[in-house]
Amino acid sequence: MTDDVLNITQEGPVALIGLNNPPVNALGAALRQGLSDAIRDLDADPSVKVIALYGEGRALSAGADIREFGKPPVPPRLPDVLDQIEGSDTPVVAVMHGTTLGGGLELALAAHARVVLPGARLGLPEVTLGLLPGAGGTQRLPRLVPLEKAIEIISTGRQVPADEALELGLADDMGQGTPQEAARAAAQAVLDGSLPTRPTGGISVTLDRDVLDQAISRLQNRRPALQAPIKAVEAIALAEKPISEGLPGERAAFMDLMDSPDRQGLIHAFTAERAVRHIPESDATPRRIDSAGVIGGGTMGVGIATALITAGIPVTLIEMSAEQADKARVGVMKNLDGAVKRGKMDAAKRDDLARGLTVATDLASLSDVDLVIEAVFEDLEVKTQIFGKLDGICKSGAILATNTSYLDVNRIAAATSRPQDVIGLHFFSPAHVMRLLEVVVADQTAADVVATAFDLAGRMKKVAVRSGVCDGFIGNRILAHYRKVADYMLEDGVSYQQIDRALEDFGFAMGPFAVGDLAGLDIGWATRKRKAPTRPATERYVEIADRICERGWFGRKTGQGYYLYDDPKARTPNPGAQQIVEAERQRAGVTPRDFSDEEIVARYMTAMISEAARVVEEGIALRPIDVDAVFLFGYGFPRHLGGPLNYADRIGARDLIRRIENYSTEDPHYWQVPTLLRELAESGRSFADLNKE
Ligand code: 3HC
Ligand code: NAI
Repeated sequence: MTDDVLNITQEGPVALIGLNNPPVNALGAALRQGLSDAIRDLDADPSVKVIALYGEGRALSAGADIREFGKPPVPPRLPDVLDQIEGSDTPVVAVMHGTTLGGGLELALAAHARVVLPGARLGLPEVTLGLLPGAGGTQRLPRLVPLEKAIEIISTGRQVPADEALELGLADDMGQGTPQEAARAAAQAVLDGSLPTRPTGGISVTLDRDVLDQAISRLQNRRPALQAPIKAVEAIALAEKPISEGLPGERAAFMDLMDSPDRQGLIHAFTAERAVRHIPESDATPRRIDSAGVIGGGTMGVGIATALITAGIPVTLIEMSAEQADKARVGVMKNLDGAVKRGKMDAAKRDDLARGLTVATDLASLSDVDLVIEAVFEDLEVKTQIFGKLDGICKSGAILATNTSYLDVNRIAAATSRPQDVIGLHFFSPAHVMRLLEVVVADQTAADVVATAFDLAGRMKKVAVRSGVCDGFIGNRILAHYRKVADYMLEDGVSYQQIDRALEDFGFAMGPFAVGDLAGLDIGWATRKRKAPTRPATERYVEIADRICERGWFGRKTGQGYYLYDDPKARTPNPGAQQIVEAERQRAGVTPRDFSDEEIVARYMTAMISEAARVVEEGIALRPIDVDAVFLFGYGFPRHLGGPLNYADRIGARDLIRRIENYSTEDPHYWQVPTLLRELAESGRSFADLNKE
């Protein structure tokens, strides 16, 4: 029998149910209804002695259908279907394979026995979406695995590999073959008694209250203290009660979280990672990339080369001298060693990948590569010279990319006779770790070159976001704007420690001054010097950072910046920097005033949103959600807020305009209402509406 979403076969006393809802067997309404009907019918059929569940395709199931969240619920509810499975008189066995996650794992937990296939990854990632497992996960998992493990798995969303699942008791046996073959074998094992069955809900457990309390207080002390993991552990505490009492408690907490802003923000972040793949060039066929060249083996070149060879793409890295080339090779090796230390790969794999790296000093070595990524000094003249040379060296059809942070990719492309092959690939530091890749599309960049960049990002497990050409592209352009407001507030009277703390309390991992110290204050200094000749006379300019840099204080790398770093773990304000702040306030004739934390956050976020709106308005970003992805994956934006323009919708266009108009009485040059914001206010639309257009 074949339903739209289920493949049901009966082989003697064995009924096999294959979930068939591509791509990930999400448990949407049709699948829930199908499962409920199938279990009812098969349980009532006396010829069926065992039911085995498995997934067609890549997994048993990746859980509830996220697209249904926020919409009116359609029966049957998943918890009811799972209760029905647990209550079936005919034993049900589940085969867990692929990424069996969330409601998918809860489905398996409600079965009477579980078999796992090698390579499977099992998890309850609901907290990463601002939810808790709402179909019995918090009640059934602690009945099967030790309490500490259940807390850890549920409160982090970690994926458990197959062998660990077996060790923990989350799986009863390791299967083999295809999921359907494993289901058949598991059913047979139930029939012959070698795989025992029991309803998980019937198991009673005693939970250690101290362990639960400690976990809750640890989660409460986290910054930001998100509600989902805390409520999840509180729900686990109910597992001591009979399951019929625990499940309603879990459900109530799940429904509460479903209405929370964190849930909205986290699911927006999940969606953003995938939405950015939809680009006008999607239909173009990517070019083949089997080899690459990287020019420049500094901070970025080393990271980019690491990312490429880790994705299995051999790299020829060019430096200016043999000595620098060797240094770059050591840098790449260090990165690979780091991955071994963190358990991401073994030594054999590292050695294998290392063989993919060649270093050289002559650009001519790049004559045969499919892609070149230039990462030399941020200097237009140096870059155009290199591109001119590449034009004469590289084979026809090779993609020529620049990692420039701010410079005009059209001008770089114009240095070649093949601007259609030139593109910006803007990685973020450290390039082998940070997930964001801005793909900067110049006026003449060919569609298949853009498609290749997105394909390459996928191979490197990065999130590619399409950007148009402007100074700083999406991320750095917006950063350059809102970063100024932190300096304005500093000069106006608030301490940089308070600004950092207020923004960290709001959810950023680090405040802007601490970030400056980490990245190196000399980077921003060089950019400010570069832009000085074109800075409008009406623009307010705060000189504090320049004074700090003039002392040679570049942040962590020099031991001091805004903070002192004698003790690398501590962050003590630098008295020298504080004196500079005082002196600059006096020089600027400012009477210092206090700011509340709330006002600091309001000004900072309003500045960020204003420039982000302009970036969308000008078409530099395709949609608001693309800006959100840039900030989530490249700038440490608090994930539960979903990105600057998702957060903007919470404030609303009208309130944002009111704020800007209010601030603009102090500084009409800086605070201007973006046209797009006015349009949204007038039409009653939101940034979310623009994402749908
Ligand atoms: N619901 C709806 N769609 C889903 C989905 C889900 N749970 N999981 C994945 N998809 C969609 C993706 O949006 C994507 O759609 P698109 O092609 O239109 O963009 C498609 O499936 C393929 O997904 P990916 O591109 O992400 O494929 P990957 O192979 O990279 O990753 C995955 C697969 C690991 C399953 C990943 O998609 C994932 O982590 N999904 C979310 C899993 C999850 O969080 N499940 C818990 C849901 S909440 C829940 O179950 C509540 C319950 O307790 C009541
Ligand atoms: P870096 O100064 O660490 O490295 C540049 C390297 O290029 C040096 O090792 C230098 O020897 C080499 N080089 C210069 N001219 C060369 C030539 N003609 N041939 C071969 N090698 C040459 O600089 P970094 O930080 O790696 O930046 C490189 C580029 O990446 C710049 O365009 C920068 O704007 C951009 N970028 C930097 C980021 C960062 O956080 N550092 C982030 C994203 C982009």
